[in-house]
Amino acid sequence: MADNNRLVLAYSGGLDTSVAISYLKERTGKDVVAVSLDVGQGGESLETIKNRALACGAVEAYVVDARDEFANEYCMKALKANAMYEGVYPLVSAISRPLISKHLVRAAHQFGADTISHGCTGKGNDQVRFEVSIASIDPKLKAISPIRDLSLTRDVEIAFAKEHKLPIEQTEKSPYSIDQNVWGRAIETGFLEDPWNAPTKDCYSYTDDPAFPPVEDEVVIEFKEGIPVKIDGRDVTPLQAIEEMNRRAGAQGIGRIDLIEDRLVGIKSRELYEAPGAVALITAHQELENCCLEREQHRIKRDIDKRWAELVYDAQWFSPATQSLNAFIEDTQKYVSGEIRMVLHGGRAVVTGRRSDASLYDYKLATYDSGDTFDQKSSNGFIDIYGLPSRVAAARDIKFGNAIDVPENTVE
Ligand code: ARG
Repeated sequence: MADNNRLVLAYSGGLDTSVAISYLKERTGKDVVAVSLDVGQGGESLETIKNRALACGAVEAYVVDARDEFANEYCMKALKANAMYEGVYPLVSAISRPLISKHLVRAAHQFGADTISHGCTGKGNDQVRFEVSIASIDPKLKAISPIRDLSLTRDVEIAFAKEHKLPIEQTEKSPYSIDQNVWGRAIETGFLEDPWNAPTKDCYSYTDDPAFPPVEDEVVIEFKEGIPVKIDGRDVTPLQAIEEMNRRAGAQGIGRIDLIEDRLVGIKSRELYEAPGAVALITAHQELENCCLEREQHRIKRDIDKRWAELVYDAQWFSPATQSLNAFIEDTQKYVSGEIRMVLHGGRAVVTGRRSDASLYDYKLATYDSGDTFDQKSSNGFIDIYGLPSRVAAARDIKFGNAIDVPENTVE
């Protein structure tokens, strides 16, 4: 089976990877198997993409509707981790690469290929994510990128396509480099490379302008162990939950992000994102955790969440470290069940209510009205002991003339 004369290519159906099929064949002598996944990016059907791959010279085309797999096993892990790289980017591209890598490896095994190829440049995170993910699953597979390793530039591409009469007229070329899936959309290059240039309307497609929103939209999301299971009382799968929130939060312009980010390769880059569903769901999930996680567990989880996002951004989805963090995060979710009510309006998802059988919010402890069961007098002893180190240190500082300076009030 493994004749080592094949390679599998992560094929999007766009100009770069369409040209790459014949170009790789010509430059490496290997037959190309095109691999395409539906991860909720919309656009052309898998059938159309498959036919184009074959028309461009692929010997086989492996296509998979991976939307549920992506939502269940990738987006939901990101949701449980409230994953926001640098505090704002919900890892749209970063979580799709490991899934695509898994299918690339499966296709390589199925079709007897020894090499995996992708259309990434040598400057970004995605080349690292593909190749490190692939190495984590099957370290024997080799990787090659036509753009990075075989000098496939735009000029070469166009000349090559003409010369070989490749059927790529229907592959539109956007002024931006775009990567999108059901978790969100990433937009870069072109005039956005000047970080002073404001985004224009044509950058966006998952969100409407938040400056002119429709009437506010109230939504109730029910979670079970960290996963959204109902919206406004209707059962939903994770994929349906994300799609519905993309529509509803997108209509309100929620989830637009404009960021200079630190890439793994060391470059700072400017990227726009729109992730209405992800941002709305993470907002709701985070608030439910506020209710249901014990204080110390919650504090630790915030640190773990941040590290999880950094590891996943940094191409470590399959690494032992990420797997260990997954185990911690999963354990924290056992009581993250209940309902969150939010109002979506004008670019913001605002939580207005929360309820849960597993909530640690205790009305009788929290109330300032009658019915209070908290013994306020016990706080005296608590402060005595909690404040003890501060009192001892203050006495020492005063002895050495280093008391905290409190200037006298000179105002009449
Ligand atoms: N900068 C983002 C990341 O590293 C997105 C990368 C893909 N973006 C794109 N517009 N093609 O996860």
